[in-house]
Amino acid sequence: MTDIVESAETSTLLDELTRMTGREDPYPRYHRLQEISPLVRAEDGALVATRYADCAAITRDPRLGHVPSHMLDFVSPGWNDHPALRQLFTSILTINPPDHTRLRRLVSSSFTARRVQALRPTITRMVDDLLDGMSGDTDFITAFAFPLPVNVIGELLGIPPADRAQFQHLVRDWTQVLEQINPAVLETADPAAATIRAYLSDLAADRRAAPRDDLISALVLAEEDGEKLTEDELLTMAGLLFAAGFETTTNLLANSLMALLHNPDQLALLRNKPEIAREAVDELLRYDTPVQLLTRVAWEDVEIAGIPISGGDRIVAYLGAGNRDPQRFPDPDRLDLTRPDNGPLSFGGGIHYCLGAPLARMEAEIALPALVRRFPELRLAGDPVRRNSLTLRGYTSLPVNTGS
Ligand code: HEM
Repeated sequence: MTDIVESAETSTLLDELTRMTGREDPYPRYHRLQEISPLVRAEDGALVATRYADCAAITRDPRLGHVPSHMLDFVSPGWNDHPALRQLFTSILTINPPDHTRLRRLVSSSFTARRVQALRPTITRMVDDLLDGMSGDTDFITAFAFPLPVNVIGELLGIPPADRAQFQHLVRDWTQVLEQINPAVLETADPAAATIRAYLSDLAADRRAAPRDDLISALVLAEEDGEKLTEDELLTMAGLLFAAGFETTTNLLANSLMALLHNPDQLALLRNKPEIAREAVDELLRYDTPVQLLTRVAWEDVEIAGIPISGGDRIVAYLGAGNRDPQRFPDPDRLDLTRPDNGPLSFGGGIHYCLGAPLARMEAEIALPALVRRFPELRLAGDPVRRNSLTLRGYTSLPVNTGS
């Protein structure tokens, strides 16, 4: 029977992934981990899965979940006194049924497919406006990859245009706690989370007094089976939606552009055949996914890849590795925008499957073909600066020249 492996080699590989050297190109390290064993143990005791089938199973197994709130004090003592942690650990992203089921139902009744589809013309116009504003040397993140998703989610939620830009740094500071929790991180993450919450509290009060046709108003009014969101739940939900709405999509746009620039034949294919946008975005999500990993805790003894693991064990599923698993994808390191039978793990699975997946897909499907058609000579114009995070994979700066 296969065993959980913990060796000098696996420790080195996992350690490298936490550093810039490994983050730059984690994929060879993922492949080596896949070869060694389906499960390796990290130095902090967590079990790491890197194969596609196991990562998919982890997202769907109802016996795996998040640390229940009454246990959180053992894991993160004093978490409730930190706005950054309270806002994360009480959000649908990290809570369990039955609370998760209730909150997910309430938000789904407001964040509907109709509401997302209605944004299509707005997104198309925003893309055109942003492309109009780009010429010569420009930073793709500041000129396009950040403003597009932040304005889309801002529009959806009902955040006034002039207020949106300030959230780039606030959300970045807050979401550092997804990567690591320590006093230095909390020093910047806490005030950022508190500022976001105070802003959303004022906005919600405004909409309570005078509802509009936006998601904040819909959340204020949302009611299912006689249940409503409490004020606290509403603000946590709005904060999560806002942050999740652009943090990840910015990275999808930037990672996709880099992948295309490194694969000119595929870039040309998308330019000449924009009708492949849907399958192309699936492949770009697979190739360099913006959310590289997710974590769970086993509530009872279970088996992963046929290996028994104990209740209480922490499990990390490397989605970015599963997406490059040669057992699942032939020639996994090749970008192939028309790859048949794709099925990236990039939006997770099971009850926590990404609520914003249709929105993120729509943004990328409109933006990427428009970008490569508008600027046929688009090229890198300097060294990109990688974001210092493994979980949220992307760039803080991506200098390009539009060729025009
Ligand atoms: C959950 C990825 C865009 C809102 C998730 C999860 C992943 C993910 C992997 C599951 C996390 C887990 O199971 O632990 C992405 C990627 C995106 C993206 C790669 C863009 C390319 C968005 C957008 C929104 C959004 C645009 C909102 C407008 C959410 C929410 C959850 C979630 C609310 C939590 C769902 C739950 O726990 O029930 N996302 N996301 N995401 N995402 Fe996204």
